[in-house]
Amino acid sequence: MSLFSFGGDNLFLGIDIGDSSLKMVELKKKGRKIQLSNYAFSENVSEINFNKVEDINYLAQAIAKVIKEAGLKAKRATVSLPTFAVFSSIINIANADKKTLADSVNEEAKKVIPLPLEEMILDWKVIPDKNGKIPVSGNMQVFLTGSPKKLVRKYIDIFKQAGVVLASLETETFSLVRSLVGDDKAPMMIVEIGANSTDLSIVKESIPVLNRSLTVCASTVTKVLSEKLGMTYAQAEQFKLDLSISLNADGSQEDFPQLITKTLEPIITEMQYLIDFYHSQNNENLEKIILSGGGSLFLNLADYFSKRLNTKVIIGNPWNRIEYAQEIRPVLEEVGPKLAVAIGLAMREIE
Ligand SMILES: Nc1ncnc2c1ncn2[C@@H]1O[C@H](COP(=O)(O)OP(=O)(O)OP(=O)(O)O)[C@@H](O)[C@H]1O
Ligand SMILES: [Mg+2]
Repeated sequence: MSLFSFGGDNLFLGIDIGDSSLKMVELKKKGRKIQLSNYAFSENVSEINFNKVEDINYLAQAIAKVIKEAGLKAKRATVSLPTFAVFSSIINIANADKKTLADSVNEEAKKVIPLPLEEMILDWKVIPDKNGKIPVSGNMQVFLTGSPKKLVRKYIDIFKQAGVVLASLETETFSLVRSLVGDDKAPMMIVEIGANSTDLSIVKESIPVLNRSLTVCASTVTKVLSEKLGMTYAQAEQFKLDLSISLNADGSQEDFPQLITKTLEPIITEMQYLIDFYHSQNNENLEKIILSGGGSLFLNLADYFSKRLNTKVIIGNPWNRIEYAQEIRPVLEEVGPKLAVAIGLAMREIE
């Protein structure tokens, strides 16, 4: 949802607030091109309880600190809302016309949104029809999202305190579609393996039509390693990263340790469920699966998933539509999966 808009410096900041990390990407618009201006992250942020004033103050200070230390200059930012806090659904609108569409969406929203509409901010997009065209009248499907006003007000306050104008807010899945999918209309799945959750989305005509979330994620592997090998969490985290690098280097996915494959099995089960579900509903296969999030960098995960699911699996490149100095390419490739949400957020106000 767009909140405030004003023109100006051509700099666009995307801020991804995770449970334990803050990630920021600043992009510059130059004519029709998008250039990387700067990026920053802080991975040692404590978990935030949005109902606690101290936590809100802490987050505002943490945001201001990262911006200052990295020298980010953008005056306004697009920020991600936590997926769990946002309601989303596809609704059917019968006999719609341009003039009454907004009212019809509101009427249908009342039926599916569990909170009173006065407490929500609604955002919606008409889904393209079978020919890829966006219908303007008749029967149509609309992708609806609703964010609690209370939470949005808290975000506005946090950013005011941090000295940044909040230009817009959106859920992570939209940002991921923008940075990883772009104009590709093929049906696909995005799997974002983060530190605190794994979020899976089926994307059709560039719209995330179905979203699921799992608690099994990158930190689960660390927890299992620390339990089984008798290490502290920090030691196990380092062990995991070292293991990832050594196995990637010799490319032998046969060595994929069983302990890890067992831990990740629920993600495979969920992916297979979504592949089958999509097929049963649409009579066609998903074209590919795009992995993202820090957990996607693990070992030869894409190859392993691809073999198990018999589907094309790739690690997404969120820098695809962005220009940057070639010298920093290796570094950017490495951090790309972790910054995919922040990149998509920064791109939002440019398009
Ligand atoms: N090279 C790597 N190999 C394996 N795992 C990695 C690698 N780099 C990062 N990770 C893991 O990725 C996770 C961090 O990913 P990410 O930055 O996407 O999470 P997050 O955005 O903070 O979490 P969430 O979105 O769930 O709130 C950590 O658990 C880390 O161990
Ligand atoms: Mg994340």
